[in-house]
Amino acid sequence: MATVVFPGSFDPITLGHVDIAVRARQLFDRVVIAVAHNSTKAPLLEVDVRVRLAQSAVAHVEGIDVASTDGLLVEFCQAQTAVAIVKGLRGGADYDLERPMALMNRSLSGVETVFLTGDNALSHIASSLIRDVARHGGDISEYVPPGVEVAVLEALRGKS
Ligand code: PNS
Repeated sequence: MATVVFPGSFDPITLGHVDIAVRARQLFDRVVIAVAHNSTKAPLLEVDVRVRLAQSAVAHVEGIDVASTDGLLVEFCQAQTAVAIVKGLRGGADYDLERPMALMNRSLSGVETVFLTGDNALSHIASSLIRDVARHGGDISEYVPPGVEVAVLEALRGKS
């Protein structure tokens, strides 16, 4: 059984993330969405909220699990006996960010990264933009799975 790990901050999960997870599941037996605590960023949503929203977003697809991780990604991959890391690429800027991480992860443990091309129709969707649009009162509902908008607005209220 081939397991892959799809890591990220998922702050919040978007329809672009869901598309990548579902398409990865079509290629591999099991996909583990790894929600990183991510010490380099101050997330809007608590990690347990990000995990719950991700679980709800992929609940309709068998073989996609969600877990949080707080350490080195390659150690999480080893614990999951993953054959690869999966990432989505919306464009060249994503590749520039992902390339050194893929090389570092391979250097650390030999784990390869498989890149899936993001759906063109979803290529403008990024968690950072979703947070920004919501922060300024815009409607994010068409870019995120059900339940995410409410959670984002709640978190923004808590931080204001
Ligand atoms: O969605 P993001 O914020 O771009 O995801 C970045 C993430 C979480 C995949 C990356 O920061 C990561 O892998 N963090 C775990 C710690 C780690 O292994 N760092 C070295 C990566 S080369």
